[in-house]
Amino acid sequence: MPNRSSPTRYGTVAQAFHWLIAALIVTQFTLAYLADDLPIGIHKLALLARHKSFGMTVLMLAILRLLWRLKNAPPDLPSGMAPLERVLARATHVAFYVLLFAMPLSGWLMSSAKNYSVSWFGLFTWPNLIAKNETAFDLLRSTHEILSDVLFAIAILHILAALKHHFWNKDDVLLRMLPLTKLAQAKPEK
Ligand code: HEM
Ligand code: HEM
Repeated sequence: MPNRSSPTRYGTVAQAFHWLIAALIVTQFTLAYLADDLPIGIHKLALLARHKSFGMTVLMLAILRLLWRLKNAPPDLPSGMAPLERVLARATHVAFYVLLFAMPLSGWLMSSAKNYSVSWFGLFTWPNLIAKNETAFDLLRSTHEILSDVLFAIAILHILAALKHHFWNKDDVLLRMLPLTKLAQAKPEK
């Protein structure tokens, strides 16, 4: 399968970015909720350190993914989609791209405002983006939490839409984002 996207399906690079980042987002929510239930201590800090490292990985991957997308146009939406559906699909994708930057950046800014270090799997430490500031920390913490709720809601909508396309509309929208699949429309008529 070609690396680059074609007018009918996503290429391997776009698919790899999609599923790797999706898996990291699930990891991020899992780590954050596990940490949330723990009292302050070594275990909570270890989970949050992992959360920060994976979060910064999302930021780096989001930059690469966006650059790749700017050079590789995604496939066209299926021609049968209603205008409202097309607007919703595009708005969801734009919102995702914004959140893939806003989530890590708000987390990084939040940690900076408390002067908590942000390391990348213990290999190096990211610099603080702003000086220590309790008011900014509270604001950024709420922002990070609200953005995570928005991301969660959009992800549910997005997954339901993908399943609707596959099981209800029976079009190629899900298949063309999956590796090693043949497009349904390419199958011969019975
Ligand atoms: C895609 C990336 C990220 C996602 C999806 C994400 C998601 C979340 C979620 C769902 C929570 C729990 C919010 C709540 O209290 O209900 C959380 C908390 C937290 N996140 Fe992230 N996060 C991301 C990136 C980052 C980064 C890059 C950092 C720091 C460098 C970070 C630092 C934190 C911290 C310190 C908390 C705990 C805040 C508290 O004490 O309540 N996050 N994150
Ligand atoms: C929370 C994790 C996820 C994120 C952040 C995410 C993000 C995105 C983004 C940004 C796009 C647009 C790609 C582009 O054109 O550049 C996209 C497309 C797509 N996603 Fe996801 N996604 C996630 C999870 C999922 C899951 C779990 C499924 C399957 C059930 C899925 C199915 C699809 C499909 C089928 C497309 C292609 C839509 C089209 O052809 O227009 N995504 N996703």
